[in-house]
Amino acid sequence: MGEINTICIFGLGIMGTGIAQVAATNGFKVVAVDTFEQALDRAQQTMARSLKKFEEKGKLPSPPEEITERITWSTDYQAAQLADLVIESVPEIMELKQEVLGKADRCCRPEVIFASNTSQFSITALAAATDRPDRFIGMHWFNPPVIMKLIEVVRGLQTSDATLETLMAVCHKLNKETVVCNKDTVGFITTRMLSLWGSEAARILEEGIASVEDIDKACRLAFGHPMGPFQLSDFSGLETGLRVRQKLFETYGDRYRPTPTQINLVKAGFLGRKSGRGYYDYSGDK
Ligand SMILES: NC(=O)c1ccc[n+]([C@@H]2O[C@H](COP(=O)([O-])OP(=O)(O)OC[C@H]3O[C@@H](n4cnc5c(N)ncnc54)[C@H](O)[C@@H]3O)[C@@H](O)[C@H]2O)c1
Repeated sequence: MGEINTICIFGLGIMGTGIAQVAATNGFKVVAVDTFEQALDRAQQTMARSLKKFEEKGKLPSPPEEITERITWSTDYQAAQLADLVIESVPEIMELKQEVLGKADRCCRPEVIFASNTSQFSITALAAATDRPDRFIGMHWFNPPVIMKLIEVVRGLQTSDATLETLMAVCHKLNKETVVCNKDTVGFITTRMLSLWGSEAARILEEGIASVEDIDKACRLAFGHPMGPFQLSDFSGLETGLRVRQKLFETYGDRYRPTPTQINLVKAGFLGRKSGRGYYDYSGDK
C-alpha cells in the first residue's frame, strides 16, 4: 500500500472539523468535503479559534496559517480524487453513510483506504457500499478529536492486515494511541460502555433521585471523568446519542432501551450545545 500523504474527510461537523485539524497539524494534506457550504464556513471558524488557543499555549508545531494552508475545502466529491486515505464522518445514519461511501468510492483510486468514524455501525455493512471491502476499516475518534488521545480501530470482516497496518501507522503519525476491536460488533468497545453509563444517568434523573448538575458533579469528582454524562451528551449532540442507542437497543435488547428523556429532548429539538439547549441551557453563551 502506498504512502499516505493526503487525507480526505467527508462531513465537517463536530468530529470532522477536529479530525481535519489533527491531520493538518501533524503534516498531512487535507481535503475537507461537506455538501453544505455553511458547514465548511463553520468548520473554518471553529478551527481558527481552536488553533489560536493551541498557539497561545505554545502547543502548535507550526503557525496556524501554515497548518490551514494544508487544507482544501470543497463541496464537490470529486475533490476526493487527491486522497490516499478517506475518513467518512457524516451523521450516524446508515443509509446516508452508505450513499456517501458509494459516491466517494467511485471518485477515488482503487488502492485508497476508506475509514469510517461511525460510533457503532457494522464496518462490514458500511464496507459493502464500496468495491474495496479489504481496504475498509473503522476509525472511531473521540470528542473533541484535538484533545482526546484515543482512536478505536475496528476490523470489518474483510479488512486486510495491510489495511490495518497502514491505518495504525497513520494513527501514530497523528500522535494518537490506538486500541483494536478485532470483531466487527455493533458499538465496538467504547460505545457499548458509554451508552449504558449515559442511560443509567438518565434513569437516575427520571427517578427524581438527583439533579442534572449533581449527577454530573458526582461522576466528575467520584470517578475523575472530565465531564459528567449530561455535559458529555450535550457536547456530543443528543440526536447522535439517540441514534446510537436505538441501534444498540435493536441489537442487544432492553439494556440499551432509550429513556423517555433522551427521546423527548431530541423531539423538542434540544440537541445540546449545537442547538443552544440540551440538558443544560446555553442560550447565554457566545
Ligand atoms: N459527536 C460525537 O461526540 C462523536 C464521537 C465519535 C464519533 N462520532 C461519529 O462521527 C460521525 C459524525 O458525527 P458529528 O457529531 O460530527 O455529526 P455532525 O452532525 O456534527 O456533522 C456531520 C457533518 O456531515 C455533513 N454532511 C451531511 N450529509 C453529507 C453528505 N452527503 N456529504 C458530505 N457531508 C455531509 C453535515 O453537513 C455535517 O457538517 C457520526 O458517525 C458519529 O456517530 C461522533
